[in-house]
Amino acid sequence: MLNASTQALKPIPPVGVIGQALAQTQTGRGAEGIYLCLCNAISDTQIAQAFRGGARRPRDVYASCGCRAQCGRCAADILSVMRGLSAAALAPFSNTNR
Ligand code: FES
Repeated sequence: MLNASTQALKPIPPVGVIGQALAQTQTGRGAEGIYLCLCNAISDTQIAQAFRGGARRPRDVYASCGCRAQCGRCAADILSVMRGLSAAALAPFSNTNR
């Protein structure tokens, strides 16, 4: 018979697309990178790929991944990653006046 303490140790089954993806890694970071959109399981790696493909808005990233925004909570994070990529792309030109 299980008591309360042994029941607390039972693993929680993965839920949804992101849960299944995270269950395949021990750290939550696998070959796909860090997941920023939990509804659509879009990672930072996929955002970078979309950016290199011309995506400049979160909706472009969703389209690149073949999905649409669900809850929209990731849009600010996706935009932040894209701004970082944009700044990194401009960095080689920022020291031209030295
Ligand atoms: S977390 Fe991206 S649409 Fe919900």
